[in-house]
Amino acid sequence: MLSALGRVIMISGANRGIGLAIAKNLYQAGFSLSLGAREPDSLNNLVNNWDAKRFSVARYDALIKDTHVEWVKSTLEHFGRLDGLVNNAGIYQPLSVMDDDHGDEILDSMWSVNVKAPLSLTRLALPHLKKSGVGRIINVASLAGKVVFGSGVGYSMTKFALVALSQATRQGGWEHGVRCTALCPGYVATDLTRGIESVPFEEMTAPEDLASIVRTVLSLSNSASIAELVVNCRPDIIA
Ligand SMILES: NC(=O)c1ccc[n+]([C@@H]2O[C@H](COP(=O)([O-])OP(=O)(O)OC[C@H]3O[C@@H](n4cnc5c(N)ncnc54)[C@H](OP(=O)(O)O)[C@@H]3O)[C@@H](O)[C@H]2O)c1
Repeated sequence: MLSALGRVIMISGANRGIGLAIAKNLYQAGFSLSLGAREPDSLNNLVNNWDAKRFSVARYDALIKDTHVEWVKSTLEHFGRLDGLVNNAGIYQPLSVMDDDHGDEILDSMWSVNVKAPLSLTRLALPHLKKSGVGRIINVASLAGKVVFGSGVGYSMTKFALVALSQATRQGGWEHGVRCTALCPGYVATDLTRGIESVPFEEMTAPEDLASIVRTVLSLSNSASIAELVVNCRPDIIA
């Protein structure tokens, strides 16, 4: 098992939902964190009693590439190293096969946030993760990256693509000790699922459980890497 001490992890969308739960868990475990959020001030409540030596906060907007560059740069200036990246920020918008009214705009925005931005951060982070020797990337994909649900075809297309990116990253970084995992949860109780009626909110996977999984994945040594993790609050089994 790898120690958390001294290891620096970037988390996108750390201000709420799954990203926030991951940030809290990893901080408690002893990791140092570089937190990315569209509105960095939205993280103030989280970090106001944290040890300033163990975290930094930066603006990360998936749609503004300069913020990707600046975030990675400021992380290295603050900590001098980088050991992990959690590509968590993401959006869901309904789009079915025959839905052509605003289909292109909807697909473009999900593609930008859910796929292009994680690819951009991966490219920026990878050289530094390779230097670490135990670099880790966790892409928060989805069960929708393994199977398509109803009107979620546009979202699924982006999450399938994120799983593809995870496999490519895994292969590309392997010989330098970088391990990449695609995390594929079903329904998780966050703002993103508040309008869902098919599964009661209280029966959905808790973000804190996913955070524990992320912590475990980050703690595994190079010889015990998990490529994909499907996590579900329902009995569906995905191959
Ligand atoms: N909830 C689920 O059932 C579920 C299941 C499977 C996978 N996921 C995935 O898990 C990840 C986190 O989702 P969540 O459930 O925690 O959703 P959430 O509560 O809606 O949080 C979404 C996060 O993404 C950030 N974000 C959205 N657009 C952004 C942009 N343009 N630039 C930077 N950050 C942006 C949000 O920041 P703001 O606060 O600024 O909007 C927020 O921090 C997503 O990738 C989602 O697809 C969720």
